[in-house]
Amino acid sequence: MARIFSGIQPTGIAHLGNYLGAIQNWVKLQAQHECVFCLVDLHAITVAQDPAALRAQTLQNAAILIACGINPETQILFHQSAVPAHARLAWIFNCVARVGWLNRMTQFKDKAGKDREAVSTGLYVYPNLMAADIHAYHATLVPVGDDQRQHLELANDIAEKFNHDYAVSFFPRIEPLILAETARVMSLRDGTKKMSKSDPSAQSRIELTDDADTIALKIRRAKTDAEPLPDHVAALQARPEAANLVGMYAAITGQTMPAVLQQFAGAGFGPFKEKLAEALIAHIAPISKATHELLAEPVYLESILQAGARRAAAIANPIVDEAERIVGFLARA
Ligand code: TYM
Repeated sequence: MARIFSGIQPTGIAHLGNYLGAIQNWVKLQAQHECVFCLVDLHAITVAQDPAALRAQTLQNAAILIACGINPETQILFHQSAVPAHARLAWIFNCVARVGWLNRMTQFKDKAGKDREAVSTGLYVYPNLMAADIHAYHATLVPVGDDQRQHLELANDIAEKFNHDYAVSFFPRIEPLILAETARVMSLRDGTKKMSKSDPSAQSRIELTDDADTIALKIRRAKTDAEPLPDHVAALQARPEAANLVGMYAAITGQTMPAVLQQFAGAGFGPFKEKLAEALIAHIAPISKATHELLAEPVYLESILQAGARRAAAIANPIVDEAERIVGFLARA
């Protein structure tokens, strides 16, 4: 059975983009696969985090994942820092990946912006740690949004170079699982920017802990254009905000975009947004409610993460021990 690995940064509250791009797929995949889902707190500190907020958000996002339907009994859910194998393998990968490869990472360029000299070295080697996350479990399927595609290509390049340099076939190739329709959910304030936890405006995203009124308000205020909805998808090409809202409605109601346009062709955004808000509330409000209930039991949540970490370590430790033996380290005590 192919093993699945995926992760989410606890740098804020998981949002609709995370849900439609990744989490929804995780919930489906767990029926057929052994899954390892990780709250990647080591990745989180590549940019400054308030320690108390990071701890709180790690628990909050664990609660959200469970509320979305991840089953922590049958699958593994844990926080990355609890399994040191990730950092051990990441160090080896820091010595396999080439500087030229990392220089090509578009997400680093975006996050570093103009001030490349001032960002942490952790942000630079971030993709090596991601490769370690996956390869420490010999996972082969990685369900993510489109923004992670380049990082997964790098993870394959690293595995290939490791196998080649040490003349082994130890790390398998990985395959990204990316949902075409919702690979990129965009900001509610700007249809050319992806919906992101780090956007300073909370109006730009629907968080999975938002209540019904907040969701309705954010959708009412979402940026649109002055045209009515068209009757075919190609006509949305130069209308990023309209395309985003139609894509959201299609994804949340389980329809295709052409089917949605057939229903709403000629309609203005007023009535369409009302329907969209209704559909989002029907889906997100129960997740939000279940999250708040789970958060009332932090001890239970922590025990889930700790049990998950023990199971994760039982898989990752022997794999990383072997990687260390392959590169020439003496056995651990
Ligand atoms: P993160 O925390 O940014 O996002 C978690 C998942 O949500 C997807 N996603 C989106 N999908 C569609 N539209 C959006 N606007 C949107 N925003 C986020 C992401 O693609 C991701 O699948 N580096 C990763 C975490 C990570 C990881 C890994 C993932 C660390 N190690 C190993 C896979 C395998 C990240 O920052 O995700």
